[in-house]
Amino acid sequence: MQHMAKLGVIVPSNRPNRVGSTVASWVVDTIGEGWDVDLIDLREIALPAFDEPSSPKQGLPRTTSHAQAWADRVQALDALVVVTPEYNGSYPCSLKNAIDYLYAELQDLPSGVVGYGWGGGQGAIDATEAVLTRLKARVESEVALFFRQDLDVEGNLFVTDEKVAALRDLGTRLQNAVAEAKAA
Ligand SMILES: Cc1cc2nc3c(=O)[nH]c(=O)nc-3n(C[C@H](O)[C@H](O)[C@H](O)COP(=O)(O)O)c2cc1C
Repeated sequence: MQHMAKLGVIVPSNRPNRVGSTVASWVVDTIGEGWDVDLIDLREIALPAFDEPSSPKQGLPRTTSHAQAWADRVQALDALVVVTPEYNGSYPCSLKNAIDYLYAELQDLPSGVVGYGWGGGQGAIDATEAVLTRLKARVESEVALFFRQDLDVEGNLFVTDEKVAALRDLGTRLQNAVAEAKAA
C-alpha cells in the first residue's frame, strides 16, 4: 500500500463550547483524499505555558516529556493545517504557546491556515501565517470562514461553495508540496 501523507490539523480553541472542533471536522471531511489525518486538539494535549530552559531554535534536547511528545508529534507530520478562531484580532494564546515549543519541526513544513470569525478571522490568519513563516514553515494558502456567511456561533456550518473550493485548493497545494519534498 502506498504511504499516505500525514496531515496534522491543529485545533487551538480551548473553550468547552468551541466551534473549532466542528470547523476542524469540516476541514478533515473536505480537504480531499490521500491524507492520514492527525487531529491535534490542544485542549486535550494541555501543554503548560512554555517551560523549557532554552529556546527550541537552539536545538538542545527537550527536558520534559510533554515538550518531547509534542515535538515528536509535529515532527511526524508531512503537512499542517491550523484551524484558528480570531480572539481580539489575533489567534488564541494556546496556539502561540504550542508553537513556541517548536522550531526545527516546522521548518519547510507545507502549511495552511483556516480562520473563522466575524471578519473571516483575517487577523488570526495573518498573525498565524506571520509566526509560521518566521519559523520557516512553508505557508501555501488560507481559507477565511465568516460568521453569518459560512457558519454560526453555535457551530452550524453552511460553508459557501467558494470556501469549499478554497479548502480543496489548499489540500491540492499541500499534496503537491509534499510530493515535491519527497522527490527532492
Ligand atoms: C476572548 C475572545 C475574543 C474574541 N475576539 C474576536 C475577534 O477579535 N474577532 C472576531 O471575529 N471574533 C472574536 N471573538 C468571537 C469568536 O470568533 C467566537 O467566539 C468563536 O466561536 C471562537 O471560536 P471557538 O468557538 O472555536 O473558541 C472572540 C471570542 C473570544 C472568546
